[in-house]
Amino acid sequence: MPELVVKNLEKSFAGSKVLQDIDFTVADGEFFTLLGPSGCGKSTTLSCIAGLETPDAGTIRVGERVFYEGGTRTTVPPEERNLGLVFQSYALWPHMTIADNLALPLKLRKVSRSRQRGLIDEALAKVDILPLRDRYPHQLSGGQQQRVALARGIVYSPEVLLLDEPLSNLDAKMRDQARTWLKSLQRDVGVTTVYVTHDQVEAMSLSDRIAVFMHGRLQQVGTPAEIYETPATPEVAGFIGRCNLLEGVITEAADDHTSVRVRLDGTGQHLSVTRPGGVREGQRVTVGLRSERISLDDRADVAGQYGNVLQAKIAQCSYTGARFEYVLSLDEVTVLAEAPVRYQGKEVNVFVRPEDCLLYPAP
Ligand SMILES: Nc1ncnc2c1ncn2[C@@H]1O[C@H](COP(=O)(O)OP(=O)(O)O)[C@@H](O)[C@H]1O
Ligand SMILES: [Mg+2]
Repeated sequence: MPELVVKNLEKSFAGSKVLQDIDFTVADGEFFTLLGPSGCGKSTTLSCIAGLETPDAGTIRVGERVFYEGGTRTTVPPEERNLGLVFQSYALWPHMTIADNLALPLKLRKVSRSRQRGLIDEALAKVDILPLRDRYPHQLSGGQQQRVALARGIVYSPEVLLLDEPLSNLDAKMRDQARTWLKSLQRDVGVTTVYVTHDQVEAMSLSDRIAVFMHGRLQQVGTPAEIYETPATPEVAGFIGRCNLLEGVITEAADDHTSVRVRLDGTGQHLSVTRPGGVREGQRVTVGLRSERISLDDRADVAGQYGNVLQAKIAQCSYTGARFEYVLSLDEVTVLAEAPVRYQGKEVNVFVRPEDCLLYPAP
């Protein structure tokens, strides 16, 4: 199957820019996710690929086939793009059986009646609901309807599958299950997939690569591990997982050192941070500290293992079952951390490894 290329995509609604410089390539068979907060332009990007919205500029192509080209004003209508579409609202016809709902896109593509039945049953079997083929949508649970919508998306063997928050109508438990089978379905079918979600856990667990969107721009494209371990900006770090973002200034950056010293605003305490390229003394920075990479201890003598120790007051401690979540005060700064145990005292030591700190020079 071919790759999907999106180049320099731009889109405005009523004079306000919703998408700017959107640039990515989805490889053959890849599970590629557009991730970002609500309103950042994910669905608009997907709609441009599907042909439901027309961009203002840029290029969209699948293999050699150009779907949209701003310069030459090429636009291929949605029904000629051979893409599978699944939305959050399953959009099934209530007065038609499941099999008839799946027959619709086949009729639209002029697939002969004799071939339809085989294709429909094959798609329903792939999503494990073949016995439901003669029921009506209202006789199905939400999770089953969601599978029908997916079966309808793959029944005509599309070149690319586009999924817009397809699991968000399911309850938490079913969403976990659906995630597992959706991933194995995508592997089995091997179809190039663009998946839209605002849920970072969903994105991390399903995707080969993730494109992080914010305010209509791409912040970073990478594997889940790259996005998590080396977020490109403080915004990405803050959006993925639970990351404390602390402001400060570099007080030491000797040339021969592998780390720099940062004085944190609002507390005056210092952190050593593994030195990234191109930072200098006096520079303002943001330090990213993931809550799960912070260690707490009420003894001070373990500091040597970590390299950094900060003094904090325990403002709050909540029990979440698996762990305790702490809200810590470092003078005027609040830090979120977690630990397997509850500390009884008012104060706790915060240990951080220099290599676990993310450092971003202020713009
Ligand atoms: N048809 C439209 N007309 C006007 N504004 C729109 C339209 N569709 C989306 N928008 C706006 O474009 C921005 C991006 O929307 P959308 O792509 O739906 O975001 P997301 O899917 O990331 O939540 C939002 O500010 C939204 O209000
Ligand atoms: Mg959306």
